[in-house]
Amino acid sequence: MDIWHIRGGNRLDGICFVQGSKNASLPILAASIISPAQSQLRNVPQLRDIDAALRILRHLGCTAEQRDNDVYINSRGLNKSTIPHDLMLEMRSSVIFMGALIARCGEARLSPPGGCQLGKRPIDLHLSALRQMGCEIEESGGEILCRASSLKGTDIVLPFPSVGATENIMLAATAAAGETVIHGAAREPEIAALQEYMRGLGWAVSGAGTDTVVISGGSPAASVDYRILSDRIVAATFACAAAAAGGSVELRGVEPEQFSTVLHFLKQAGCDIITEKRSVWLRSSGKLRAVGAFETEPYPGFPTDAQPVLMAALLKAVGRTVIKENIFENRFRQVPELCRLGADITVAGNRAEIWGVDSLHGTVLTSTDLRGGAAMIVAGLCADGCTEIYDDGHVKRGYERLDVRLRSLGADIYLDG
Ligand code: EPZ
Repeated sequence: MDIWHIRGGNRLDGICFVQGSKNASLPILAASIISPAQSQLRNVPQLRDIDAALRILRHLGCTAEQRDNDVYINSRGLNKSTIPHDLMLEMRSSVIFMGALIARCGEARLSPPGGCQLGKRPIDLHLSALRQMGCEIEESGGEILCRASSLKGTDIVLPFPSVGATENIMLAATAAAGETVIHGAAREPEIAALQEYMRGLGWAVSGAGTDTVVISGGSPAASVDYRILSDRIVAATFACAAAAAGGSVELRGVEPEQFSTVLHFLKQAGCDIITEKRSVWLRSSGKLRAVGAFETEPYPGFPTDAQPVLMAALLKAVGRTVIKENIFENRFRQVPELCRLGADITVAGNRAEIWGVDSLHGTVLTSTDLRGGAAMIVAGLCADGCTEIYDDGHVKRGYERLDVRLRSLGADIYLDG
């Protein structure tokens, strides 16, 4: 059990180098097996979920190791197409190995993935798309068995721009005869990153970043060297922390337009923000105004992953903010814990209403999920006294050395565990 100890009240000042993106790294790690190749990935964060993906790769017969922020994979030795239940349960992204194994082996045997408990997280869109491409899929006894003697390129219409389904289709499509066109594809920067990596591996992929992605064959390369983009949700978390605690922080290595919706609301709350190429400078008095209303949407809308941390930043903001969560049915799990700090939040269905309070008081909390845990840390930084957060490893799944980075900005935070 990790225990985060925070004494609130310190300003955050200084420069923060933002880590590489977890949600870009994970599908790329799965993609590394679509053809026999060596991948060198740079700027990969050191996280529990990345470890889990590397363990899956080694289980499949690849060599895969991380040295600091570099990952080296050789997928030539891949000799299995089954992923055991315990490895599948480690994280949601394990499901992206389905498309990758189908592409490489023509079959995959796995079980439904784990990941944060944010409500129902079905994989019906993934399975339906793979079936349309010619994959036979049996689901029985908690196992998913996929077989594809031959896949055909086809037009797939996604009724919702699912990030994971888009990624799975892109990978499986590398084994399809002819062109695969995904209509209604997710437009997240992580999809564009996957496209760039796949191009490096020799595949013809285009359109990522728009709602139409086309995969049309290719000739596999022997090796690829790819640098992972910065993590827009981690950047948003630091921006929210500095906004709430007060201070002056420069986020370096970031792509400001990738979290501009979050910056927009922090500006509205009263922060001064200057964006430059690959950096964001944010100054806050720590006294924020409520922002009226915001709602989560697929990219380029406001990201659901940043909703809990912006909520935490607004707990003391003067006035009322209403948040509508449109992506996950259970993404207000942090709310009861934030209320234990003295926050005034009421949840009705997918709406949360926050009335800013004068002060928060530190207490003992239990982290509920990755971003919920990060939200509790942001709240703890601006609460009076000490906050202790008992965290079953959630935060480490997505944040690399968060305690060290926050401490270097002046926060009084220690991590036991
Ligand atoms: C990715 O999850 C991210 N994870 C999530 O980040 C992120 O919250 C989410 O996209 C939305 O931006 C990774 O990239 C590893 P989806 P994913 O498929 O792919 C429904 C974090 O904190 N849906 O776009 O699982 C689903 O239930 C994590 O870093 C179906 O109904 O997201 C959800 O309501 C958490 N059927 C919505 O779509 C399907 O087959 C969005 O899911 C697939 C999804």
